[in-house]
Amino acid sequence: MPKFNQPPLILANWKMNLTLAENNKLVKALIKGINNYLKDFTIAIFPSFIALADTQELIKGYNLALGAQDVFWKSTGPYTGEVSVVMLQELGVKYVIVGHSERRNYLKETDQMVNHKVITALTVGITPILCVGETFSQRQQGNKDLVIAEQIKRALAGVQLDAEAKLIIAYEPVWVIGSGQAVTGEEAEHTAQVVRQTLYDLWPAAAVNKQVRIIYGGSVDANNIVDFLPSKIISGVLVGSASVDARRFISLVKKLAD
Ligand code: PGA
Repeated sequence: MPKFNQPPLILANWKMNLTLAENNKLVKALIKGINNYLKDFTIAIFPSFIALADTQELIKGYNLALGAQDVFWKSTGPYTGEVSVVMLQELGVKYVIVGHSERRNYLKETDQMVNHKVITALTVGITPILCVGETFSQRQQGNKDLVIAEQIKRALAGVQLDAEAKLIIAYEPVWVIGSGQAVTGEEAEHTAQVVRQTLYDLWPAAAVNKQVRIIYGGSVDANNIVDFLPSKIISGVLVGSASVDARRFISLVKKLAD
């Protein structure tokens, strides 16, 4: 086991995959396969909304956390189809992904909407995982770092980092998500530094170091996980494709523990 400053975060974003039956089968297989590693890592799974309740039951008694893939920013009311933080809280949800590039792209989620979601999650003590990342064309125009810094500033506008607040920023280059080809460890680390600097410009460095974690996401799998962890700034990974298959996810976790 390599030396980590703190247990790495391994977050499994199952996206819009799996029927309820498949979801529950995967949860059981994961518990069996990674149970020995749950003391060394902070592992959270992010099923679809319809599977949260079952998943909560299945993971009871295990050191495995529950996350949601999205949230709305009002706690109750006439918002057809939306799910609130109050509902998530009731199901024991500890983390929520906000501003994933797939939502920004397909559902036209804006930085302002993302900002509302971050604030709402923080209000009830659910840790937001704020996703930021550049598209390929933004990168080609030489704007990568600028795009990341701007996304962070807009998503965190007016956000107070209270003493108990916890926040995770996931750097996810949009063009590598689901591609099978991650960026290099050096590149992820460089961008994580841009993220950290942007946060230092918003809040006191000591608070950022203590309360905010920066992670990488985008085609992470068992073959490249050790390119990203351990690292000075990056303290976890957000895994999509390689997390929806029990064998692949278990081998990723084992690889990191080797
Ligand atoms: P991927 O997805 O691992 O399939 O690239 C990551 C994500 O979108 O969070």
